[in-house]
Amino acid sequence: MKQEQGKLQIGTLGCGTISQAAHLEACARAGNAELYAICDVAEDLLDRVKAVHQPKKAYINYDDMLADPGVDAVVIGIADQFHVPMALKAIRAGKHVLVEKPLGVTIQECEQLEAEVRASELVLQVGNMKRFDPGIAYAHQFIQEEMGELLALKAWYCDSTYRYQVTENVMPVMVSSEAALRPEGNPKLDRQRYYMLTHGSHLVDTARFLGGDIVSVHAWHVQKFGAYNWMITIEYASGAIGQLDLTVAVRMDWHEGFQVYGEQGSVTAKTYNPWLFKASDVEVFSARDGLYRRPLGEDAHFFKLQLESFANTILHGTPMKGANVQDGIQAMRAMTAIARSVETGEKIWLADVSGGV
Ligand SMILES: NC(=O)c1ccc[n+]([C@@H]2O[C@H](COP(=O)([O-])OP(=O)(O)OC[C@H]3O[C@@H](n4cnc5c(N)ncnc54)[C@H](O)[C@@H]3O)[C@@H](O)[C@H]2O)c1
Repeated sequence: MKQEQGKLQIGTLGCGTISQAAHLEACARAGNAELYAICDVAEDLLDRVKAVHQPKKAYINYDDMLADPGVDAVVIGIADQFHVPMALKAIRAGKHVLVEKPLGVTIQECEQLEAEVRASELVLQVGNMKRFDPGIAYAHQFIQEEMGELLALKAWYCDSTYRYQVTENVMPVMVSSEAALRPEGNPKLDRQRYYMLTHGSHLVDTARFLGGDIVSVHAWHVQKFGAYNWMITIEYASGAIGQLDLTVAVRMDWHEGFQVYGEQGSVTAKTYNPWLFKASDVEVFSARDGLYRRPLGEDAHFFKLQLESFANTILHGTPMKGANVQDGIQAMRAMTAIARSVETGEKIWLADVSGGV
């Protein structure tokens, strides 16, 4: 199919919030990929999403979608607990995978997935779409190419108490179903765990994307008036150090960004609520020319850019720009280490942790 049309043929698993808000639209906007099939066990939801997005095929059964030779790759947008089992099925069916973050919920299951991806010739990318924020991508490039050695990095991800009000105003109006398949026991009820997986996965990935591998964490956690805060001191493999702040939710507007101090320059960034599709305001200072620089990042449809990059890797073998399966495992290790550090009060080495958050 892809050879005939030149575009990667996508099957999306899940017609819930993230597919409606991000992935289905990304398929429609991408230059090198298109929506071929959708899948959801909730038939009413499937019908409504089908009417809007007009895929060639609509499946209630995931195995049936995977058996369709017209599907080149699946985009998995379902609850975290289902990510690894459904990604494994796709790999075993010979399909490339773009799976939402976090990669999974335990280190072991992520490592099993990694082994099977490695044994296949398939591409698996994790949906850390902030890597496709043009501001963050520019910062990454500056750090790689010009900044020299990293001294220290601070990054913060502080969800806003007004998040849902702002987000719901700009997202498409969502369609939902009573028949939607959700993990048993509603894992979202354990807020501390849920916030770490859903928001911490962004913060840790940004810290790793910009600063490289993290080797240890020492974390503190406090809950007051329904707000949750983690302050985390990190050590990088390079010897650099860092400080991460995860807050859910700050009593103000969305507050996310980072500061990076290097040998030949520095970076500061303010990141916006992702649903505004606005590139981070990034300023780099380069000691080489003594100038500050600020990229515009005019196209900040992170989800479209993520999908196009994924498709380029599959269609043309271009190096993966997104998070790979190893990044997904290392993020799981970092989040798990943060949880263990909060429990024990000790500094925790990422290499020593097992289990999950
Ligand atoms: N990248 C981001 O910034 C971002 C933002 C929001 C959510 N997410 C991620 O998206 C995921 C949650 O997505 P959501 O909120 O759309 O979930 P959801 O629960 O609202 O929707 C998932 C849909 O998938 C269907 N489904 C689940 N398993 C299925 C199966 N085996 N076969 C067929 N259908 C199946 C369900 O019926 C449901 O309709 C999480 O992993 C979350 O971290 C990422």
